[in-house]
Amino acid sequence: MTPVGIDAVEIWTGKLQLDLPETFAPAKDEDPDKYRKGIGLEHSSFPDTYEDIVTMGANAAKRLLERKGLTPSDIGRIDVATESAFDNSKPVSTYIAGCLEQYYDEDFRHANKGERKFACVAGTQSVDDAYNWIRAGRNRGRAALVIATDTALYARGDPGEATQGAGAVAMLIDENPDLVEISTEQGYGSMDETDFLKPNQQFPSVDGKRSMQVYLSRMREAVEDFESVAWDMHPDDFAYIPFHTPFPGMVRKAALLGYRHMSRDTELEDELADELGYQPRQDEYTSWDAYEEAIRDYMDELKDTDQYRAWYDKAIEPTLGISRHVGNWYTGSVHIARIAALKYAAETDRELAGEKLLIGSYGSGAQAEIHAETVQEGWREEIAELNIDAQIDARYDLSYEEYEQVHDRHNHDKTATDLEEFTEPEDEFVFTGWGRMSER
Ligand code: CAA
Repeated sequence: MTPVGIDAVEIWTGKLQLDLPETFAPAKDEDPDKYRKGIGLEHSSFPDTYEDIVTMGANAAKRLLERKGLTPSDIGRIDVATESAFDNSKPVSTYIAGCLEQYYDEDFRHANKGERKFACVAGTQSVDDAYNWIRAGRNRGRAALVIATDTALYARGDPGEATQGAGAVAMLIDENPDLVEISTEQGYGSMDETDFLKPNQQFPSVDGKRSMQVYLSRMREAVEDFESVAWDMHPDDFAYIPFHTPFPGMVRKAALLGYRHMSRDTELEDELADELGYQPRQDEYTSWDAYEEAIRDYMDELKDTDQYRAWYDKAIEPTLGISRHVGNWYTGSVHIARIAALKYAAETDRELAGEKLLIGSYGSGAQAEIHAETVQEGWREEIAELNIDAQIDARYDLSYEEYEQVHDRHNHDKTATDLEEFTEPEDEFVFTGWGRMSER
């Protein structure tokens, strides 16, 4: 079977940054270690006043098409995943296609366009849609452009304010991909939940603590469902496990749960159980509650073992390298985690071709999806093309007062065109007013 997967990626970060331990924590009278050690974020990206989900998505996509030497006739569909849409009818992909068409003699008339919504998991769902379209043989030799673009902003004073972010990831889905082949098998954990929602409102209504529990429950179900169609997994089967990363502290919890699940009924579990004085069999306990308590105690001990720490440092920590400096990008977040891991492998001269990744995507509301990927021969050259470090370093560092202004402006007076800019746009799409988009 011809491999299908992600051929290339490009990232576009919002051009402003908020330093969480140094600027945000003191303004909120909080301990900077809450951010450095607890939540695990150093910075959040913010859009400048001339940026929004359209400009960030179009700028990422333009870089991708230019770099791969593609024109609109090479692209058969454009899917945008976002939970920050501003139009209930016209999909964001049409706005982005309109921007891109300014560059080419051709247009995207022939391309199927759409917008996917299921909170943060919509980015992976769009990749799935593109994969299925190619597998079904409907692509007529064309590739799919998938763009995950979001401004993840919370109301001021909401605990979610600690986990904001803004940026876009553009991905080219094609046959014989250079980056990763996607597995046909998938696992799901899906349930009607109200932990995080935005019913016709700019900022989410969120029950933060509950949202973390729902993330973990759905992720566990997705892993079990994936195992039922794929194989019984062992933690060492995967070079990296990129999870949806609203903030690194959430991934610490997901990784521990994943490790415990993947090592159950194995020699590894027996060894650890012996070492930690725990009985893995439920029938050794007098009640379900006692069993659950024993699992909790076991997990508490497990996370401090050398074995678990070594695995975490190898398979999980490298996935957090970008997220730590940009915050939550909702639909793009798990795709940033994948890129961070591959980038780390390239920087540490690790050979990855043929190795497997396990991707843990999640969207509130709520659904988790698990699938596997196999790294392809061309991965190193593709990753070497990314300029994300330069983009991160070039961001304007906001004072707390400037942050408040930017936050107000993105809440969302789309008719205002005379707003102060913090950075100078350079050869890129900018927001120039409602329904108009142009390039400077
Ligand atoms: N030193 C070290 N650690 C510290 C600390 C200090 N001085 N102060 C606090 N911490 C730790 C806390 O112990 C906590 O860690 P644990 O969870 O391991 O106990 C962590 O830092 C966060 O501290 P708080 O719980 O006190 O933080 P908070 O009340 O401000 O809320 C939050 C944190 C719930 C994540 C909140 O920011 C929020 O609601 N975020 C938005 C919702 C969200 O991201 N949910 C994630 C799951 S849903 C999802 O993934 C979809 C999505 O993208 C939104």
